[in-house]
Amino acid sequence: MVKSDNITWHQSQVSKAERQALNHHKSVVLWFTGLSGSGKSTIAKAVEKALFDQQVGSYVLDGDNMRFGLNKNLGFSAEDREENIRRIGEVAKLFVDAGVITLTAFISPYRADRDKVRANLEVDEFIEVFVDTPLEVL
Ligand SMILES: Nc1ncnc2c1ncn2[C@@H]1O[C@H](COP(=O)(O)OP(=O)(O)OP(=O)(O)O)[C@@H](O)[C@H]1O
Ligand SMILES: [Mg+2]
Repeated sequence: MVKSDNITWHQSQVSKAERQALNHHKSVVLWFTGLSGSGKSTIAKAVEKALFDQQVGSYVLDGDNMRFGLNKNLGFSAEDREENIRRIGEVAKLFVDAGVITLTAFISPYRADRDKVRANLEVDEFIEVFVDTPLEVL
């Protein structure tokens, strides 16, 4: 629900395309999803490091870290989980606008929540990665 009225979007003088050109790479979201313990954080951090080492600006938004700050008023009810993912999606969108390859590591089990994040980005900016670890390995 939007609680503020009389708000105006201020357009930057620098476009996303110009930021990407400056960085010499595209900016996208790599959205890792999968069960707890499947390896989302481990893989996301490894990819972040590999990209950084190739001079690609990258950043991981990780589950618990976000709950220390931005999302510290959220719990684990269905409603709060949905709001958690919505906020992460908005932050990821800002990072993409800033020209960064953004990796997220949240269980994010609900397709509807992930699809809302996808719909909030341009086509090809949201790349979903399902970390499909077998239960016996978990
Ligand atoms: N490819 C791998 N091979 C073996 N162990 C792994 C691998 N990837 C991750 N692990 C180990 O599995 C455990 C869980 O990994 P990780 O914390 O990355 O999972 P996660 O999906 O982020 O879980 P959560 O949703 O609870 O944050 C860690 O102890 C990690 O070291
Ligand atoms: Mg994790």
